[in-house]
Amino acid sequence: MNILIVGSGGREHAIAMSVSKSPLAKKIYCAPGNAGISAVAQCVPIGAMEFEKLVSFAKEKEIDLVIVGMDDPLVGGLVDEMEAAGIRTFGPRKNAAILEGSKAFSKELMKKYNIPTAAYETFDDAKKAFAYLEEAAYPIVLKADGLALGKGVLICNTKEEAKDGVKTIMEDKKFGDAGSRMVIEEFMTGREVSVLSFVDGKTIKIMSSAQDHKRAGDGDTGLNTGGMGTFSPSPFYTDEVDEYCKKYIYQATVDAMAKEGRPFQGVIFFGLMLTKEGPKVLEYNARFGDPEAQVVLPRMKNDILEVMEACVNGTLDEIDLEFEDSAAVCVVLASEGYPLHYEKGLPISGSERFEQEEGYYCFHAGTKFDEGGNLVTNGGRVLGITAKGPDLRQARENAYKATEWVQFENKYMRSDIGNAIL
Ligand code: AMP
Ligand code: GLY
Repeated sequence: MNILIVGSGGREHAIAMSVSKSPLAKKIYCAPGNAGISAVAQCVPIGAMEFEKLVSFAKEKEIDLVIVGMDDPLVGGLVDEMEAAGIRTFGPRKNAAILEGSKAFSKELMKKYNIPTAAYETFDDAKKAFAYLEEAAYPIVLKADGLALGKGVLICNTKEEAKDGVKTIMEDKKFGDAGSRMVIEEFMTGREVSVLSFVDGKTIKIMSSAQDHKRAGDGDTGLNTGGMGTFSPSPFYTDEVDEYCKKYIYQATVDAMAKEGRPFQGVIFFGLMLTKEGPKVLEYNARFGDPEAQVVLPRMKNDILEVMEACVNGTLDEIDLEFEDSAAVCVVLASEGYPLHYEKGLPISGSERFEQEEGYYCFHAGTKFDEGGNLVTNGGRVLGITAKGPDLRQARENAYKATEWVQFENKYMRSDIGNAIL
C-alpha cells in the first residue's frame, strides 16, 4: 500500500513509525512531516491545510490510504475532499470531526444521550454569559467553542476572573472565531485519563490508557500546553473504571454519532476525569493524542494498517486489539519559553543513539534540517523521548536517562512526568 500521513508532530512520527513496521506498507509519504519523520517516510512540502495540493498529490502517487493525524484538517473537511476524489482516508469526515471541533456540539450530544459530563450552559452572547456568572458557583470553567490549540479553556476561581475570561474569549476574541460561542461548565476534580480508541462507524475498540501532563511546569504549574509528557497504561484506569466507561461512555458516543447521521470513523480520544461520582467526559478529540500516541502506539501489537483498514471498511469487529504487557513513558523536550516565546534553529545533537537502543524512541515534533543539512529545533515542543520498561517505574527511569542523550540549547523538560505512579 502507498500511504500518505498528514501532519508534522511527534504524533505523526509515532504513526509513521508504526506504519513503517507494517508488511502492508510499500511507499510512505508524510505532508509536511519533519526531520525525524524523514527517516521512515518521504516528507513532501505540502501544508496540512492545503487540501487541493494534498488531493492532487494523493492521486498522482496512487495513495491507497491517507491517514490524517491533526485536528485542523479533520475539522476543515480534508477527509471529505479525499473521499470525493475516490481516495480512501482514515479519519472522521467533517460532520463527525465536529465532535472535537465544537465544544457546544459535543456537550449537547452528551446531554441528549445521557453521557456523563460536567453540567454546562452554552452562550452566543457575552451579556447573557455575564449575567449567568452572577449566580454561578466557583471555581468555574470557560471554554471557547472552536479549536484553540488546547488553549481555549480557562479555569476561574472567582466571579471577577470569570468575567475577565468571558471578555477575553467573547469580546477581545483572543482565540479568534473559536470564541464567538462559549461553554461555561461546572468545575470537576479528579484524576485525568486519556483513552484513545479506533472506531469504524459502529464498532469501537479501546487502546491502552494513558495520562498526559498538560501544564508547562513541574507540579502542574504554569501555562497549559499541548502536553509535556505521558505515561501508559494509567494505573488509575482500573477494571472498574473500564467497565463503567464501556457501559456509559464509549459505545454510547459512537451510537449517538451514528444516530445523529454523523457516523464516526477514525480515532476518538476520550479525555476523562475520574470524579467521585464516577468517570466523566472532559472533552472529545477526533484524532490520536499528542504525546499520548507516543506511549500508546509503541505498545500496540497489531499491524496499524490492518486496524486502520478495518476502520475504513467497517470491519473493526473482526480485529482483536492487543497491547504489550509493558509500560511506556514519554518526556517532551521543549524549547525554554514554550508555549509562549522560544527560539528556533538551534542545533540538536545525540539523537542517532536511539537507532541502536531497543525500546527507546526519539519522536520528532518541532525539528528540521537547515540549509547545511544539520538537525535543528523548529518548534516549541522539539522531541518526545519515549522509553519502554517492564513497569511504569522502570519505563520512567529509562525515559529520563534517555533525555540526557540528546542536547540542544534551551532544552527544557518537566522533571516530574509519571511522578503520580511512584
Ligand atoms: P479540554 O481542552 O476541554 O480538555 O480542557 C483542557 C484542560 O482543562 C483539561 O485537561 C482539564 O485539566 C481542564 N478542564 C477542562 N474542563 C474542566 C472541568 N470541567 N473541570 C476541571 N478541569 C477542567
Ligand atoms: N495531549 C492532548 C492532546 O493531544 O489533545
